[in-house]
Formats: sequence, C-alpha cells, structure tokens
Amino acid sequence: MTKILRYDSMNILVTGGAGFIGSHTAVTLAEAGYNPILIDDFSNAEPSVLDGLKSILGRAVTCYHGDCADRNLLRQIVSDFKISGVIHFAAFKAVGESMSDPLNYYRNNLGTTLALIEVMLEAGVSPFLFSSSCTVYGIPEKMPVTEETPVLPAMSVYGNTKQIGEEILQDTVAAGKKLKVILLRYFNPIGAHPSALIGELPRGVPGNIVPYMTQAAAGLRPPLTVYGNDYNTPDGYGVRDYIHVMDLAEAHVAALKYLLDKPDEPQCEVFNAGTGRGVSVLELIQSFERVTGVKMPYQIGPRRSGDVPMVYADAGKAQRVLGWQANRSLDEALADVWRWQQHLLK
Ligand code: WQD
Repeated sequence: MTKILRYDSMNILVTGGAGFIGSHTAVTLAEAGYNPILIDDFSNAEPSVLDGLKSILGRAVTCYHGDCADRNLLRQIVSDFKISGVIHFAAFKAVGESMSDPLNYYRNNLGTTLALIEVMLEAGVSPFLFSSSCTVYGIPEKMPVTEETPVLPAMSVYGNTKQIGEEILQDTVAAGKKLKVILLRYFNPIGAHPSALIGELPRGVPGNIVPYMTQAAAGLRPPLTVYGNDYNTPDGYGVRDYIHVMDLAEAHVAALKYLLDKPDEPQCEVFNAGTGRGVSVLELIQSFERVTGVKMPYQIGPRRSGDVPMVYADAGKAQRVLGWQANRSLDEALADVWRWQQHLLK
C-alpha cells in the first residue's frame, strides 16, 4: 500500500539533499507535510538514494543534479518552484582530505554558500538553515559545550570552512539583509533510517568511526584501530556526542518551523544539535557488540592528530527554544546502522 502524504505548498530547497543527513532530512520534511526540492552534484552521494526516498515516501522526490554554486541553476530552481526556505547541507566534509586539498574545500564549501545566499536574497527566500559542526568549538575548556562556548581557531580546513560559513551568514544578517538564519552545530551523526533503505554511503575508507566499525564487523575492512585510549577521559578513550541521524533530521524540521513562524526580519541564531550525552569509543564498541551480537575486531593504536579528547553538547537551548530534543538511544542508532550495513551487503 503506497503511503500517500499530503503536501503543503511549502517547497523547501535542500542542497546536498542526496547526502547522508540531507536524505534523512528530506524524509522528515516530507513526512511533516513539506515538499523537499533537492539539489546535489552527486560528488559524495549515489543516485540510488533517490530510489530509497521513493520507496520510503511512496513518491518521487524532485532532485536537480548540479552544483549549488551554479547561480543560474539556483535561479532556475527558484523560477520552477516557489521556495519557502532552504537547508544548506552541500559541502565536502572529510577532515583529513581538507588538509591535503584546501583550495578545493574553500572553493566548494564557501562558493556554494555564497551563491546560495545571493540567489535566495534575490528571490526573497529568507528561512536559511546552515549545516555547521561542533568542530567550530575546537578543544573546549569546559564540558558540555553550550552555544556560548567560544568558537576557537579551526583545527582543520574543513572546520574553518564551517566557521567562515557561519561568519558570512552572521555578517549578511548584520548588514540588514532579509535572512532568517539558524546555524545548526551538529555533533556526531550516526545511524540510518529504520527501513534500511537509506543510510550513510562513505566513499572509500570511512574516516568516521561508526561506518568503519560496521564495515570491519562485516569483514569488509581490517580491524578497527582505536585512536588512543590514554586521554584524560573517564575510561581513557575519546568521548563524543553520537546523535541518531533521524533525531538530527527532526532538529532541522523543528528549526525550519521556528523560522517560518518568525517575523520576516534579519536574524541569526546558533543551536547545538546533540544528545547531551558523552559516549567513549569503548562504550560505543561495547554497545555495538551488545546490540548486534557481533564481536568488533579492533586494536589500540596511536592518537589521531587533531582529535579532540572529549566533546559533547549542552542541548538545552534547542529544547527550550525549538521544542526539539534527541530521543533515540545509542543502541537504536547502532541497530539501525547495522541493519543498513547488512542491506548494503545484499
Ligand atoms: C569519533 C571518535 C576518534 C575513527 C568528525 C568531524 C566532525 C563531524 C563528525 C562533520 C574519535 C575515534 C575514529 C577510527 C577511532 N563531521 N576513531 N578510530 O572526528 O569526532 O568528528 O566527524 O561535520 O566535524 O570532525 O568523528 O568518527 O572520526 O571520530 O578510534 O577509525 O572515534 O579518535 O574519538 P570526529 P570520528
């Protein structure tokens, strides 16, 4: 039975919409009654994601195949559709790669942001959600990090593109341009849609721990190397705030609704998108083994340069202001991502 979803006339432009967080947000937008309009250059996404979205939603999702730095393409989209808001995910996001290929990262991550702001202002589209990252906090003094925790000099080119992206939007609003902006600082997105029809599709060897774990557990990779267990943390392992990608997707819908309800005047607010819980790598491994019944092959190796010992969110502001909080457990995220990994093996 195809699920027929009622759509308001509200079209929401989702850049990088075929990517990991973008595709899961497209599902949540559609199920909340919006009509997601995707644009993706498929440099880090597979066209098969669109089939997954169609299976989940029971209808095709509009997707423009192109670079969102292309102002003419963006103008075509705002001419084809009345766009009521934009969520900007499109960016290169591999920390290590950003250090060896800085110009490509600055060109892409900043070029797309500038083009998008310019064309949205031309078209009078003001709700603008920007995909930012907890990486802007660097190595924070105090835990948990709040939105008032100082932004520290970036530890990677990738992190710097996020910081500069935030500054571009803050300065545009400060200049009185009619944008209603939320800077959403993600912690560590993990998991997959419970249907296992969409999930993370890392290209090459995964840099992030959870996709590497699932591939190692599936025997596709050598054992996981744990980057150090001699940190000044409760068990010596690195600590992060792992948030289910579906919770993160719902944070975007809550933020969008908040902006749509706000008066049309220039504004820019920051929100952390995390669970508020710190989890160590060892706890992550133990949770994975418990949930899947699969032994995780791993060894302890040296620390990875640039790694933060511990970072997790104070997620209170999003709850107070947006009425959103993460409510899926770590176990649920690991069960969903393992189901996704097994779907990929079929
Ligand atoms: C998590 C923990 C590692 C891999 C990055 C970006 C951040 C955001 C999320 C985009 C750490 C340990 C990892 C491995 C390991 N991306 N680890 N072995 O570095 O916290 O954040 O992804 O927005 O901006 O910086 O994520 O998954 O790489 O690391 O032991 O093979 O796992 O040391 O403690 P990270 P991660």
